[in-house]
Amino acid sequence: MTDQDRPHGVVSIRTIAMPADTNPHGDIFGGWVMSQMDLAGGSHARALSQGRVATIAVDGFTFHRPVAVGGEVTCYTRLVKVGRTSLTLKVEAWARRAEVNTCEKVTEGTFVFVALDGDGRPRPVPDGAAAREAALLNGP
Ligand SMILES: CC(C)(COP(=O)(O)OP(=O)(O)OC[C@H]1O[C@@H](n2cnc3c(N)ncnc32)[C@H](O)[C@@H]1OP(=O)(O)O)[C@@H](O)C(=O)NCCC(=O)NCCS
Repeated sequence: MTDQDRPHGVVSIRTIAMPADTNPHGDIFGGWVMSQMDLAGGSHARALSQGRVATIAVDGFTFHRPVAVGGEVTCYTRLVKVGRTSLTLKVEAWARRAEVNTCEKVTEGTFVFVALDGDGRPRPVPDGAAAREAALLNGP
């Protein structure tokens, strides 16, 4: 098994792709997958920044494979960089096809989140983000 054959990061969301998430051709919307990845990255960034965050940029989004209805989609997230007010996370979406029970990476992208204060303005990321990342990676 190569490094490319396995997910990287922590599980931040796991859900099932439903018929309501399809386009008229019966494929799962790319926008639905992107929104799951944004939610997953946002959840991780909130934990690291200990508060509110907003997505400010997404880079290098690649759809490798389609997602089928009924597929179990898992979003893995990991910290790439801590800035003054921003956190950069890599997010991978993997899908398990119900009928064959195999997992494959379907989509990946790099998300930048900004930590916000109560008024919606950027706030410094609190010290200790790397330690919180390590704790997340090690699990409960
Ligand atoms: C998030 C927001 C308050 C930031 O305000 P801002 O005045 O642009 O903030 P700044 O210019 O101080 O940048 C904040 C951080 O984002 C980074 N940043 C800004 N634009 C960026 C871009 N295009 N790509 C990557 N990082 C970027 C800056 O480098 C800075 O990071 P640092 O402090 O770690 O160096 C504002 O852009 C906003 O409200 N955007 C809309 C967010 C939104 O609605 N998202 C979707 C729903 S969550």
